[in-house]
Amino acid sequence: MICKSLSKVLTFCILATAAACVSCFNNYDDVVPWVKVKVKINTLDAKYIDLQNPMGRVIIKNEGYGGNGIIVCHTSGNDFNAFDCTCTYEVSDTCAVILDEGNIAGAVCPVCGSKYELVNCGMPSSGKARYSLKSYRVSYNEPYLRIFN
Ligand code: FES
Repeated sequence: MICKSLSKVLTFCILATAAACVSCFNNYDDVVPWVKVKVKINTLDAKYIDLQNPMGRVIIKNEGYGGNGIIVCHTSGNDFNAFDCTCTYEVSDTCAVILDEGNIAGAVCPVCGSKYELVNCGMPSSGKARYSLKSYRVSYNEPYLRIFN
């Protein structure tokens, strides 16, 4: 009896852990069109030095959909998130999020005011947007960061 209960608890824990480990890259609600992304940056470069700090954020210009840019966030340790800057409220090459100066883990669209969480798979937290920012894969081999899809 105790073994069956323990087994159920262990199964639940394993499934919960697996679900938590699913990367932001599996975003089935992607509304931003696919474009080839293959970027390599040196995090020691002055343009990207903020990424050396936990919760550091930078925008890589002229990349991603319509050249709107890619926003990169250093979440913890060697973990980074990367998102297309295209605002998901009305996808266009003229609506791009910027760093939210009022939220160290956020981005905001300066046109519609939608706010997004960079540590929570780019999910919208307020405003008109209903879909997450488009995410990209990231690999880190100090000091180089590759962003791709
Ligand atoms: S979408 Fe055009 S502004 Fe946020």
